[in-house]
Amino acid sequence: METHRAHCLILPYPVQGHINPMLQFAKRLQHEGVKVTFATTKFLFETVDEVSASISVETISDGYDEGANGIVQKIYLPRFQKVGSETLTELVLKLQDSGRPIDCIIYDAFLPWCLDVAKDLGVRAGVFFTQSCVVNNIYYHVHKGLLKLPLEATEVDIPGLPPLLASDLPSFVSNPGPYPATSQLVVHDQMEKIEEADWIFFNTFYRLEEKVIHWMAKILPVKTIGPTIPSMYLEKRLEDDKQYGLNLFKPMTNACMSWLNERSISSVVYVSFRSLAKLEVKQMEELAWGLRASSYHFLWVVRESESKKLPKDFVKETFGKGLIISWGPQLDVLAHKSIGCFITHCGWNSTLEALSLGVPMIGMPQWTDQSTYAKFVKDIWKMGIKAQPDENGIVRRDVIGQCISIVMEGEIGQEIRKNAKKWKDLARQALEEGGSSDENTKDFVSKLIQS
Ligand code: UDX
Repeated sequence: METHRAHCLILPYPVQGHINPMLQFAKRLQHEGVKVTFATTKFLFETVDEVSASISVETISDGYDEGANGIVQKIYLPRFQKVGSETLTELVLKLQDSGRPIDCIIYDAFLPWCLDVAKDLGVRAGVFFTQSCVVNNIYYHVHKGLLKLPLEATEVDIPGLPPLLASDLPSFVSNPGPYPATSQLVVHDQMEKIEEADWIFFNTFYRLEEKVIHWMAKILPVKTIGPTIPSMYLEKRLEDDKQYGLNLFKPMTNACMSWLNERSISSVVYVSFRSLAKLEVKQMEELAWGLRASSYHFLWVVRESESKKLPKDFVKETFGKGLIISWGPQLDVLAHKSIGCFITHCGWNSTLEALSLGVPMIGMPQWTDQSTYAKFVKDIWKMGIKAQPDENGIVRRDVIGQCISIVMEGEIGQEIRKNAKKWKDLARQALEEGGSSDENTKDFVSKLIQS
């Protein structure tokens, strides 16, 4: 008798930093024999540069099929909830009618209404968090009223975490004022019905956040399944698994990789702040002059929309020393032997990617959860340092130069590289046969097939 092949529908929030980890998880599930349908919004599907051939993609609507440019979150989110609920329901019913019923909807924690859709349809549901366990725990404590806002103390103590300064906390906790709709979504809505989901997936691995995972797993059915890095970079298991596979921007792969091939080992500083972070003009200038003054080559991702902030003639004047690209194949770049360090905004994917590929980091966090990762990179994982801004929040050129020297040279740099190697090995082990994330993924699949 043919065994039932479970079918999961996976729905990310439509931005690159959420698509990448969920798409990679989709591929892992496929590798374990699960059938996966990946859902995106119509607008996103029509604008993507490339879709991996190994993934079956269907669309739903967020209510903005012509694009949501200029629409504020306060308007966008409720419309996505309304139109998204209807069109997700239609999609699940369509798949059912065509003989491909869905066994489980794995939805982005930014789309908590998917849980109601799943329940109404009698389908099981898994919620996928694209942030670290540390950050999830912080939001959980705020949402449950265990950590009161506005913060009263300059230092907070949360179970499973080391003592954290207010400035180490996500911006939606330390300063929720400027973006009320996004704060509500990130801190509260994500956590609202977390107990009702059948599974809770975190893109992290046990050894990286041992204490806090242990603490959260006591109260919630948490499964750590990361790092969701395409396995060819870590284990060489899935042959077709090059990059993530659903790019919103076209990477300048040839120009970038042939330039890196000309550089010597550990001689290049890689700089990227995408995909959501925007730098102030003053910060772009300081960064530019800091890179130019350093004795190392640099590869800098500057989105087209940001390139006008570069100092006049900068590209021309730094030709040869630096290469500026609008989007790159980040995993290939981080895995390249010429890369010596990564100046990063500390988005969770970039942090996990650098950590898993053993690249030392210089953290320049901008907002949301990035300050927390910069703190952990520096003080807990000891895989990099944090560039200290001045009283106006700008990291000055001389500080950038000093940070590059510290990480690329000397004793601190050596220690960081030693730790980088350790984390790279531990990340790989988590995904290898019998590793914690591999076991968690297999356990999910076996439960899905059984019931
Ligand atoms: C955001 C948040 O910062 C992050 O913490 C959250 O958990 C997910 O959403 P984002 O700001 O986009 O993400 O940064 P990051 O999480 O680092 O994701 C960026 C992704 O784009 C990475 O997977 C990176 O590999 C990719 N990228 C970036 C490229 O492929 N090419 C580039 O040139 C730059």
